[in-house]
Amino acid sequence: MPSVFIKTYGCQMNERDSEAVAAQFIARGYALATSEATADVVLLNTCSVRDAAEQKALGRMTQLASKARKQKRQVVLGYLGCMAQSRAGELLGGGVKLVLGTQKLHRAAEYVDDLLAGRTMAVCDTAAEAGSEAHIRDHVLALNRPRPPVKAFVSIMQGCNQHCTFCIVPQTRGEERNRTIEDIVAECRGLAERGAREITLLGQIVTSYGRRTIPDRDGRTAFVQLLEAVNALPGLERIRFTSPHPKGYGPDLVAAYTRLPKLCESAHLPVQSGSNRILKLMHRGYTRERFLELVSQLRAARPNLGISTDIIVGFPGETEADFAETLDLVRQGQLEFAFVFKYSPRRDTPAAAMPDQVPEAVREERHARLLELVTAIGAARFQQMVGQTVQVLVEGPSRRNAARLEGRTRCNKIVVFEGSPRHIGELLDVRITAASAITLYGDPASLNPD
Ligand code: 5AD
Repeated sequence: MPSVFIKTYGCQMNERDSEAVAAQFIARGYALATSEATADVVLLNTCSVRDAAEQKALGRMTQLASKARKQKRQVVLGYLGCMAQSRAGELLGGGVKLVLGTQKLHRAAEYVDDLLAGRTMAVCDTAAEAGSEAHIRDHVLALNRPRPPVKAFVSIMQGCNQHCTFCIVPQTRGEERNRTIEDIVAECRGLAERGAREITLLGQIVTSYGRRTIPDRDGRTAFVQLLEAVNALPGLERIRFTSPHPKGYGPDLVAAYTRLPKLCESAHLPVQSGSNRILKLMHRGYTRERFLELVSQLRAARPNLGISTDIIVGFPGETEADFAETLDLVRQGQLEFAFVFKYSPRRDTPAAAMPDQVPEAVREERHARLLELVTAIGAARFQQMVGQTVQVLVEGPSRRNAARLEGRTRCNKIVVFEGSPRHIGELLDVRITAASAITLYGDPASLNPD
């Protein structure tokens, strides 16, 4: 039985795509290898959002190919996903036999069968395929796992129509296409029946879900209708979604936070910049004032809401004054966690051709200053939680210290505490006794004795 190893770069959508590809291989009789070194097939599921992500995958592939050559091992090497989509045929050769775009992932196992059997020498398939969004559906539930996972991720759509000027995603993932509510709810129900307590709905811009294909009902957009249907599933305790667009938070979605008890108090709201001038150049479709108003509306609906964000520093034309507005927005909105990215020019995007590209040293320096601010706000907000009792969904052993347990609060903060593995999958009230900048520590005394 041949074995396959899939390595994922980039976002949670990619993680989910890789899992669906792995499920496909299992269904065809393959084993999942535990490392690249022993696998008969190694697939890199790539990310194109920044150049660094592409370089990482390219470097890894070069290593894999040279090792296979030296050891005289026959390994099928392939690229999947966004970089495969944008670079296509130029990635073939040098040991790489498979290049599969974002709308062809469901064909991976079939193509690898052909390659292993010698029916074809190389495959490059990056064509668009209608209905491909409905194929990211299968999960790997039992394999290599002592129990079914407590948390699951469900892909609800593919593609993006926003065309932010910095972003390559509309080219790599295509036009927005959504699955049906029934199809998604059936997948969520199945996961809940097999033990999932928390589900995260995934899409490039989840708040655009079904905007053109599913009519509003009683003033509720398709995305809110979907949240309501998932909220009604028995056994499920928590719902999250990522990533939304600030523009997508209509009154119905803000109100959903007051009506739907399973919707967690956490929001990842990518703001990208605090300067209106830069937001306009980015083609984001909102102002800093609107963003801050949204933060207040959401905090009014759920006072404990944890807000994280994505920010790009050094977008073309960004001045020190623009950057100061970003710092100010983070302070005003008390954004407690941010993925901060240095602007990376992407091929065939409007921003790459804009004047006044910001020098690397300036991008570097702004990156460090912004991170420092966000870390300080996060640490202060984590510190405020000491002494509170919070609900934790116990996910498993702590990654740092397997003798302890780890879970997340509804606000998506990691909590580490001592307790028996029998609590895995349970919702527990844990008293917070200490906090670092990114982790909370709980009091074992608040747990039931074994
Ligand atoms: N350069 C830097 N960061 C980018 N992102 C998207 N495109 C670029 C780029 N060209 C960031 C955005 C987005 C996150 C997923 O990646 O902040 O929200």
